[in-house]
Amino acid sequence: MTPPLAILNCSQLVTLAGAARPRVGAEMRELSVINEGAMLVREGRIAAVGARTDIEPLITNEYEIVDAKNRLVLPGFVDAHTHPMFAGTRADEFEKRASGLSYQQIAATGGGIRSTVRKTRAASEEELVAAGKRYAEWFLRCGTTTVEAKSGYGLTLEDELKMLRALRRLNDETLLEYVPTFLGAHAFPEEMSRDDYVALIINEMLPRVAADKLAEYCDAFFEPGYFDRAQTRRIMHAARNHGFKIRLHADQLTRAGGAELAAELGAVTADHLEQTDAAGIAALKAANVQPVLLPASVLLIGSSHYPNARAMIEAGLAVVLATDFNPGSSPTPSMLLVLTLASTQMKMTPAEAMTAATINAAYSLNRGHEMGSLETGKRANFVIHDCDDWRALAYFAGIEHPVAVYSRGRLAVQRDNNN
Ligand code: NIG
Ligand code: FE
Repeated sequence: MTPPLAILNCSQLVTLAGAARPRVGAEMRELSVINEGAMLVREGRIAAVGARTDIEPLITNEYEIVDAKNRLVLPGFVDAHTHPMFAGTRADEFEKRASGLSYQQIAATGGGIRSTVRKTRAASEEELVAAGKRYAEWFLRCGTTTVEAKSGYGLTLEDELKMLRALRRLNDETLLEYVPTFLGAHAFPEEMSRDDYVALIINEMLPRVAADKLAEYCDAFFEPGYFDRAQTRRIMHAARNHGFKIRLHADQLTRAGGAELAAELGAVTADHLEQTDAAGIAALKAANVQPVLLPASVLLIGSSHYPNARAMIEAGLAVVLATDFNPGSSPTPSMLLVLTLASTQMKMTPAEAMTAATINAAYSLNRGHEMGSLETGKRANFVIHDCDDWRALAYFAGIEHPVAVYSRGRLAVQRDNNN
């Protein structure tokens, strides 16, 4: 059993304490910062949090002292949209995009998602776990303690199950927490007709993933050339009947009514939304769907068409930010990069961005009661960052600020040079 911890000398403890629900409007700018804060952790959970003068008298000699050395302490980031399970890379496509080809042009010539599918099918479960462990370390090192994780590079029953089983193993064998999502509807495989593949998802994949309890959510890539409205509807209705909650890739590359479809389907989140307009935003609001914005995927495909975060916040939507970590459109695990892009390219205030990367993300994964803020009773997922002001995190861009990362009270990463 790990000893209880006392985290002392926090220049700022950014707690995000507040209403026990996703934050909207002006609430997104309220971070509940405690200057000169301290925190106690017992059995992987937060036992007390407050001003150092209130916490220090509670410390007995059973506590192990964690000296934050006058630095910033934050909740671990919750990354609510990732594709972290794949074999190989697509660095060759990155090079091609630099020479002028677009993401869509590369996909149309046999690259893109299908290229990763070929490599992922050829990999064993063991190889996927080994690759996944490397990426788990990257996420933790960047200050992320929970990720939503999609399948979707298998596109056969066995290969999708292999990916989801590998994710389950990563959940058991790493200190990163994975929330699994079944994304069989990511692309069409080359070896069968589209109708046959939709039937395979509905008749074989969804029942099996549900029976083996391998995913909590079902997602689909709703986009011209990928899954159309009728196919997406059929898949999502079947998913619902098996007890899955719904997330949807919507309005990424074209304005195809993805936001409206997410609303109609009662999705928990609509993700991407680069092309979504005022009518789409109104539909999300009416159906209480959380937008998940992925600005790193815009940057890294070389686009400049970011989603309209300001209009979404002004409409009262509980905006979430995530990396979209994947080998094609967004090969970055860094929520810090996402925060920088949110403030520079989407004009979210640093506080709004922080809320979107923590507590709002946690609620979008049905884990708002467990994580996303530093409040008594929640999991002790916290990070010591090498700055003394939370606004400096996204401002000093491109730096890995975390020096110590704790997941459920256990030290997952330490990069402290002891000065
Ligand atoms: O979210 N849009 C579809 N899926 C991913 C890209 C996956 C890939 O390129 O491998 C995305 O951007
Ligand atoms: Fe994605």
